[in-house]
Amino acid sequence: MIQSEIESRLRQAVAQHVDDAEQEKILVRPCSDPKHGDFQSNALMALAKKRGMNPRHLAEKVVDDLRLGDICQSVDIAGPGFLNFEIKSKVIEEALAAALKEKIPFVSPASEPQAIIIDFSSPNVAKPMHVGHIRSTILGDSLARILRMLGHKVITDNHIGDWGTQFGMLILGWKTKLNKAALDSDPISELERIYKEINSDDSLREAARYELVKLQQGDEENLKIWRGMIELSQQQFDRVYGRLDVQFNETLGESFYNPYLEEIVEELCAKNIAGVSEGAIVVRFPDDDQLNDKPAIVRKSDGASNYTTTDLATLRYRVEKWSPNKIIYVTDGRQQLHFQQLFKIFRFWNNQFAGQLQHVWFGSILGPDGKPFKTRSGETVRLDELLDEAEQRAFKAVSEKNPELEESEKRTISKIIGIGALKYSDLSSNRQSDYVFDWDKMLSLQGNTAPYLQYAYTRVRSIFRKTTEPNWDKVVINLDAAEELSLAKHLMSFGHTLEMVAEDNRPNYLCNYLYDLAGRFSRFYESCPVIKAGQAERESRLVLCELTGRVLQRGLDALGIQVTEVM
Ligand code: ARG
Repeated sequence: MIQSEIESRLRQAVAQHVDDAEQEKILVRPCSDPKHGDFQSNALMALAKKRGMNPRHLAEKVVDDLRLGDICQSVDIAGPGFLNFEIKSKVIEEALAAALKEKIPFVSPASEPQAIIIDFSSPNVAKPMHVGHIRSTILGDSLARILRMLGHKVITDNHIGDWGTQFGMLILGWKTKLNKAALDSDPISELERIYKEINSDDSLREAARYELVKLQQGDEENLKIWRGMIELSQQQFDRVYGRLDVQFNETLGESFYNPYLEEIVEELCAKNIAGVSEGAIVVRFPDDDQLNDKPAIVRKSDGASNYTTTDLATLRYRVEKWSPNKIIYVTDGRQQLHFQQLFKIFRFWNNQFAGQLQHVWFGSILGPDGKPFKTRSGETVRLDELLDEAEQRAFKAVSEKNPELEESEKRTISKIIGIGALKYSDLSSNRQSDYVFDWDKMLSLQGNTAPYLQYAYTRVRSIFRKTTEPNWDKVVINLDAAEELSLAKHLMSFGHTLEMVAEDNRPNYLCNYLYDLAGRFSRFYESCPVIKAGQAERESRLVLCELTGRVLQRGLDALGIQVTEVM
């Protein structure tokens, strides 16, 4: 990659003037304002300041020694010591030619691939998946796809909630209130119903607790009912994942860790990490300004373990089994305290572990009234129903636009558009802000939406239906027009964009990148004739079309969104 080549040569030049420069990060980034150049670096300023040097003088000396004549048209020093690099057209042309041969254009696999675990989706057994799980599922899946594209080894683990006190009530409900016909037609609603019925009746508390204890002690009948509920829920989850095209390497679930919970609490006590407080066992964080008044319970006073204990066991298992460089948890922002505590306790407990632990949290989905998204009758929206509606609305739009298409084709396309729109509206917003769910906006062909990008892709493809594809190996690429250069340079920063997403766990950077790409493509296509141009010019411009199509397709794929040839 050109960017990393400039970076490494800059580093060498700096080393000639600064003794301990290898300690410093010397970064080269795409220019935020193309008027200044293609790439920029502001590294010299911090570097000079730290050593009491004059940044401008340092910059002058470094630029004197910088050998970039083969890559750059110019290297300018601006202001107190910014460096701006402008790339030669020839170098860009070569990069495009090379990208035509790459599996994922403009993306070079990580030089040191990492093992990364992503814990996402993680719905709860016997409950419907709701919109709260949609963000985790869509975001987690996109991060997994992007990290894999960058060459990392990713392990996705669906940590489903398949254990806890609710099973006492569910089992009692199963034994005494179950409507078999209702269970057959809509198992999750029926499980939800029996749970609510038991939960609302205080006189059944004791009986429910008794069923829970029996389950915990391994009672055959209760275990069988419990497994049955997991099975029914998993079928529902799998249907949703199938529609969303989301896969997991593992679905271990909370119950997998039951055998380890006792020993974890014992060990925390033995190491003096945890201690007794009012009958419970807790971990305190006296040295942490944020957590010093927020102890974490690891065993309740009734002797039961909890979410934190299970997550500690999970973390230990993952570290031992996969030796990950990083573990990413994707959940709602309300779990921030839980993960702060969890990560802290784990560091006390295992100070050998050098990997990163990241909580990638997100805000809520709001209804048009600005309140948490609900159905008209005030209930939580079910994910499967949301997907149905997305597809139906897309079907209507596709039928209006293309009445002549076959029914089955309309169905296929509307799935791609409907699900894509839903995913994109989630991924394109800043994950930490709440966003308002708006069907019209997400399905619009204008603006920063999936249908707009999918449409841009179909425009590229339609060009190739009108002309013959050249022999890519033989095309001489010539970039003269400003619009061609602007498009080409943007294409080249695809890999860098994916790296930025991976760094901050923010797929919205990629959405912005793709939106910008589609805009540059439009401007290019409006001002540079392709099909009507003479052969040499046409073929060179077709390279830009082809690469735009491939980057759009790969970029959308990185978001878990498919493309279609027509729409
Ligand atoms: N089941 C939980 C929920 O629905 C999410 C689990 C997240 N993962 C974890 N390791 N705690 O809120």
